[in-house]
Amino acid sequence: MNKIIPRLLIAGYFSIFIIIIVGLGWAWHTYREAPDQPIAYSHNKHINFVGLECTHCHAYADRALMPGIPPLQTCMECHENVATDRPEIIKLTAYWNKKEPVPWINVNYLPPHVYFTHKRHVKRGFECAECHGDIAHMDKVRQVKSFRMGWCVTCHRANNGPTDCWTCHK
Ligand code: HEC
Ligand code: HEC
Ligand code: HEC
Ligand code: HEC
Ligand code: HEC
Repeated sequence: MNKIIPRLLIAGYFSIFIIIIVGLGWAWHTYREAPDQPIAYSHNKHINFVGLECTHCHAYADRALMPGIPPLQTCMECHENVATDRPEIIKLTAYWNKKEPVPWINVNYLPPHVYFTHKRHVKRGFECAECHGDIAHMDKVRQVKSFRMGWCVTCHRANNGPTDCWTCHK
């Protein structure tokens, strides 16, 4: 009988760690993992080694709801001649020859009942990194912010943005 109490204490002690680890794992997964893309395109390489600007490829960021994913033509301006012997570029060229778009997997998205526009946020001077993290150093894009309602509203309150329900729910 007198051995049960210390055993319960020890079990309780370890279960705290298990709860913490499971909790952290759960929190991590709500921030969606980086998917494998059909072509192993690296932002890190194209920004820091090639020296491109974000808007070279995401041209509509300050003009539209969505910045847009670049068409294959943007890649082929260089890759018709650059690194044509590499397996990933051979795959890229095959899409181009078939006249098929690359089926990129969407990483950052909101539920369809939420209205969001890039134009207003970019014109107001928010950097891409504020919401997307340090994309310039990512080899694989992943979502780094929660994209939950609380995240949007906290920033709106801090910057005198609109907080009426209908701003984001039309
Ligand atoms: C302004 C020119 C330019 C544009 C535009 C460009 N790239 Fe590149 N890309 C390069 C250069 C330069 C390299 C590095 C080649 C090297 O390692 O020597 C490269 C490397 C790559 C690699 C790695 C190749 C390997 O296996 O080493 C991939 C994959 C790639 N690019 C895909 C793309 C895709 C997809 C697009 C369009 C969304 C694109 N690139 C647009 C210049 C460009
Ligand atoms: C050479 C073209 C090119 C440049 C330059 C570029 N991107 Fe991209 N970007 C892409 C392509 C192609 C994808 C889709 C594949 C992927 O997710 O890696 C993409 C995906 C993204 C995504 C994820 C889209 C989604 O589905 O959620 C974000 C966010 C993004 N880019 C931001 C940036 C930022 C910020 C910069 C500048 C630091 C930048 N990009 C520069 C080509 C480019
Ligand atoms: C205020 C936060 C915020 C800022 C600033 C921001 N984004 Fe986004 N971005 C988002 C959200 C939220 C989504 C998902 C939108 C949706 O699904 O309706 C998204 C989606 C994207 C996508 C994928 C959508 C598509 O076109 O298919 C790309 C690419 C992207 N952002 C690039 C950028 C770039 C480049 C910049 C900087 C010029 C930028 N974003 C600045 C919040 C932001
Ligand atoms: C980094 C801070 C920040 C974040 C994060 C942010 N916003 Fe905003 N947003 C603002 C500010 C500030 C304004 C007001 C801009 C202005 O007055 O020009 C605004 C304006 C808006 C507008 C009004 C645009 C229009 O044309 O009427 C909508 C809609 C919006 N945000 C939706 C969202 C949603 C949805 C999210 C989360 C997914 C979000 N925002 C995240 C700062 C932010
Ligand atoms: C700045 C943008 C913004 C404002 C303002 C806003 N919401 Fe939301 N709301 C979101 C986003 C983004 C989501 C989706 C992500 C999530 O569920 O957290 C959402 C989701 C929801 C959901 C669905 C929750 C779920 O579990 O799917 C409800 C209900 C909701 N909002 C109600 C409201 C009400 C009521 C108001 C006004 C008091 C409001 N929202 C104001 C951005 C906003």
